[in-house]
Amino acid sequence: MLELNIPSKEHDESRQGEALVLDSSKNNDGRKLYVESYGCAMNFSDSEIVASILSEEGFITTPDFNEADVVFINTCSIRENAETRVRNRLKEFSASKAKRPDMIVGVLGCMAERLKSKFLEEEKLVDLVVGPDAYRDLPNLINKVDDGSKAVNVLLSREETYADISPVRLNSNGITAFISIMRGCDNMCSFCVVPFTRGRERSRDPFSIVKEAQDLFDAGYREVTLLGQNVDSYKWKSADSEEISVNFAQLLEKVALVSPDLRVRFSTSHPKDITDEVLYAMAKYENICKYIHLPVQSGNTRILEVMNRTYDREWYMEKINSIRRIIPECAISTDIITGFCSETEEEHQDTLSMQEFVKYEFAYMFSYSERPGTPAAKKFKDDVPEDVKKRRLEEVIALQQIHGNYRTQQRVGKVEKVLIEGFSKKSKADYCGRSDQNFMVVFPVSDEYKPGQYVNVLIERATSATLIGKIAQ
Ligand code: SAH
Ligand code: SF4
Ligand code: F3S
Repeated sequence: MLELNIPSKEHDESRQGEALVLDSSKNNDGRKLYVESYGCAMNFSDSEIVASILSEEGFITTPDFNEADVVFINTCSIRENAETRVRNRLKEFSASKAKRPDMIVGVLGCMAERLKSKFLEEEKLVDLVVGPDAYRDLPNLINKVDDGSKAVNVLLSREETYADISPVRLNSNGITAFISIMRGCDNMCSFCVVPFTRGRERSRDPFSIVKEAQDLFDAGYREVTLLGQNVDSYKWKSADSEEISVNFAQLLEKVALVSPDLRVRFSTSHPKDITDEVLYAMAKYENICKYIHLPVQSGNTRILEVMNRTYDREWYMEKINSIRRIIPECAISTDIITGFCSETEEEHQDTLSMQEFVKYEFAYMFSYSERPGTPAAKKFKDDVPEDVKKRRLEEVIALQQIHGNYRTQQRVGKVEKVLIEGFSKKSKADYCGRSDQNFMVVFPVSDEYKPGQYVNVLIERATSATLIGKIAQ
């Protein structure tokens, strides 16, 4: 399943197989839809848009693909193993399809965009291939399949933000929700497939974003995470007046002003684009959570250059210093890639020393996986042997384990303000929720508090990922 230990479900394509269940439908013509999502939070958020578009058409969702008329798999291409997982899952669908040939199987998302109609040749059971910017066309494409043809729409758009579509909250706890604020990515990190699968960067209009946050708050939600591949380059300009424009810091402030009881998180920040203005906005509003996901990828300047990250080691360290200066209590997490093309042992050591410098609260760590069509695949040799990549990854993970422990131990004895999300996975006798800094906190249930409320918890002990405590008097 997609892990939720950062507010972004982003960066972890291992989150998988989460069936999305839609509670109600406007008009119910009885056709059943099953949607399974893989990849980053943007994909999960898109599945909610897909469910919304199809619920307008009378579809209802089911948690069981065996009884679905339409089975969608919303896919991720970020690393090779993300794609392998999807292909294995498709094999599992084929048994169901063999029994019920009318069942429609559709591939959505990044793999659909990457492979386009090739998917139909490679995977015979697939009827429908739809890229991330073409979901409005789904009703029409399903009609085509009903009429006996296969259907493909992988057109990318420069404008589509689905701003007017009110997502149907799927598998929701009713307390935390994602809001997409932009789509696509204009950075060309040489290892990354996202610019090819998601297209050009575009920002959604701020009024629809604030309205979505307000609607969520009115419906009882208490935390929103603003999503984009590079939220700091959010930029919206009014079509009527060039003078009215909104940047990310201003958007953050507008969303924070919805209510002091609405927590605001965001992901992902790019080190080259995060500004002091954003940091000051975070410092100014108590309800903007003090947590930044700031992927470093590598601690070595030459590797950062071949990755085309457009910052160097010193620039990144300066950003960390600015964060510490402006928001001293801020938690910082990261993404790291080991064994990128031509990475030497010494350069790998620079990543370890960067970890030492920051002592990240959390990290998502990967070994490099070459993606066809990316600048790195075209220009560089994937020349670090697999066993070396893996060994370096193990070193990075082992060090992060130490830092994770260090960071959670630092919280012991402190009182954390926790937004209660529900019962702990392990026991109905405990509640769980997140601290401002995004640590998962577990503590005994009290009748005085319900999910959706804030409570102060005194932290008594900690594991490398969880804080454990009791309600503070
Ligand atoms: N927009 C986000 C990242 C999205 S992808 C950002 O810029 O930070 C999430 C993470 O997957 C990346 O940060 C990177 O660490 C990792 N990743 C992307 N492409 C990869 C590849 N080809 N091999 C291994 N990891 C990769
Ligand atoms: Fe990929 Fe870089 Fe864009 Fe992130 S910023 S999505 S890593 S190209
Ligand atoms: Fe997300 Fe994977 Fe696409 S990380 S943007 S679903 S390639």
